[in-house]
Amino acid sequence: MSEQPQVHPVRDEFAANAWADKAQYEAMYQRSIEDPQAFWAEQAERLEWIKTPTRIKNTSFDRDNVDIRWFEDGELNVAANCLDRHLAHRGGETAIIWEGDDPADSRHITYAELYERTNQVANALKEMGVGKGDTVTLYMPMVPEAAMAMLACARIGAVHSVIFGGFSPDAIAQRVVGAQSRVIITADESVRGGKHVPLKDNVDAALTRDGTDVCEHVMVVKRTGGDIDWHDHRDTWFHTMVDKQALECPAETMNAEDPLFILYTSGSTGAPKGLKHTTGGYLTYASMTHQYVFDYKPGEVFWCTADVGWITGHSYIVYGPLANGGTTLMFEGVPTYPSHGRIGEIVDKHQVNILYTAPTAIRALMAHGDETMHSSHRDSLRLLGTVGEPINPEAWEWFYRVVGKERCPIVDTWWQTENGGIMIAPLPGAIDLKPGSATKPFFGVRPAVMDSDGNVLEGQAEGNLVILDSWPGQARSIWGDHERFVNTYFSTYDGVYFTGDGCRRDTDGDYWITGRVDDVLNVSGHRMGTAEIESALVAHDAVAEAAVVGYPHDIKGQGIYIYVTLTDDYEASDELKKELIQQVRKDIGPIASPDVIQWAPSLPKTRSGKIMRRILRKIAANECDGLGDISTLADPSVVDELIEHRANR
Ligand code: WTA
Repeated sequence: MSEQPQVHPVRDEFAANAWADKAQYEAMYQRSIEDPQAFWAEQAERLEWIKTPTRIKNTSFDRDNVDIRWFEDGELNVAANCLDRHLAHRGGETAIIWEGDDPADSRHITYAELYERTNQVANALKEMGVGKGDTVTLYMPMVPEAAMAMLACARIGAVHSVIFGGFSPDAIAQRVVGAQSRVIITADESVRGGKHVPLKDNVDAALTRDGTDVCEHVMVVKRTGGDIDWHDHRDTWFHTMVDKQALECPAETMNAEDPLFILYTSGSTGAPKGLKHTTGGYLTYASMTHQYVFDYKPGEVFWCTADVGWITGHSYIVYGPLANGGTTLMFEGVPTYPSHGRIGEIVDKHQVNILYTAPTAIRALMAHGDETMHSSHRDSLRLLGTVGEPINPEAWEWFYRVVGKERCPIVDTWWQTENGGIMIAPLPGAIDLKPGSATKPFFGVRPAVMDSDGNVLEGQAEGNLVILDSWPGQARSIWGDHERFVNTYFSTYDGVYFTGDGCRRDTDGDYWITGRVDDVLNVSGHRMGTAEIESALVAHDAVAEAAVVGYPHDIKGQGIYIYVTLTDDYEASDELKKELIQQVRKDIGPIASPDVIQWAPSLPKTRSGKIMRRILRKIAANECDGLGDISTLADPSVVDELIEHRANR
């Protein structure tokens, strides 16, 4: 590292009132590593257990026996922890503030109300025959019913699988079949930025695909009253089904290692993986990270702008804040509607104290200039956070200066769907901030930097980010495919969890995440596998071969750049480009819309036929001078042709 990064030291006033100052962080961190059994036994006390666990950590990362168990003899119920235990003290306090897409629409839901409604949804699910261990798929807008449905599943021991509302019917079908869900909860339409998205139509289309006849019931939240088709044998309105139910539903006793949810995410190969998260460890970790990383204090309004369809929404809209008895804001719309000032206006309207968002959203606002923030004061803000992708220092500084008015620390939080909760982030009362660095590990997390031969590098270093030992929030397996879990995360290097990210560690021991080192893209903070996009493309008759790479994009972080080789029967045309874009949107969803398609008469391959993506990435990034050694290519002239017709110059 040549240049010194700018440092924003912890402020004394902040540290004085924080859950952890520097000394506390260091002492707790050390204890969490030296004596995880005792540390996590104490931390488990933050939850209410039906049976207190006595066996705390029993985990193996050994590739021949990957087996992860936390609190394995403990029993608890997640919904009871998020709702019931708060009723006595804060039953009348707001659990969820819902802000609709339309700024005139908002609602406050108290803990008592959320408790009753969740119980009713739970009873409705039971009436449909859902019980402990059954899976329920949710494909929903950002409405309180989504949180109720998640908690209702947790209450009766059902396993939810939430699918982000931007996925297509094919993607829904794949996940319904993967999870073998007999029940889907959806809405007629969602509303985002004034536009309606036909969720129910998408579910209907999904349920025409092979294997989806496993689904017997579709429960539909009436959000807009828009036109939808109705299938009497399987469709029911959410309100008709739920309103009539009893307000009490006993919380099922769950083992700490019973599954809580499945969440699909993209990897470098094959179809998306359904990660399996379990009960006791996940909730302990979501609750603890929410408290410490965001320095959350009772009574504060916490706003995570993610969608509940992603892990960030699971852990920091629903489970973390509610386990902590907090007030969580759920926003239905998009940050730029009806105007670019919306985020700030929501902060003022609901007196938000902590705002947790994504770099891509920050860059989008920044592109519209400081004036976008003039419609709000944001004096209620105390802390800011980011997640999902590396944040460039310019965006960090803008967020700090303009949005937070130089008063609010920013916690840059690195973690993954697989992790369950935040892994590397500056605890705001303890750790000096460096724009662009996620800084230090959370309690119990043992990151390391490895070279490609599997040597752990010490001190200042650059390489692959791995985690040496288990933490309670981590996914236990891939649903129905433990072997794939082992192969994906524990076989690159034996005995450690491989994150798929590259990083460097500076002389202060701070971590800087440099992005994925595998074939996973991160587009606007959304994870996407290049292999998934390629398989969508080759399904089109015109495509003989396709290679997908990411390239730097000012707002999205990464854009999707596609090289397509056509079959002999097709001619390159703009029309065909549109068709191929449609093809990807249909197969995966609008979130995977390609940015650039370049026609490639052929692709650069090694003599053994392997596509050299390194070269394709460079050309897409317009870095044609640094292509490196191309002498191993079967036909080096292919490269000149691609450079000549590249799109991003
Ligand atoms: C990236 C989101 C840099 C990273 C919670 C990771 C980040 C992937 C950061 C996981 C960050 C997430 N700085 N990169 N603060 N946070 N990432 O599963 O590449 O949707 O592997 O989980 O996002 O994305 P996922």
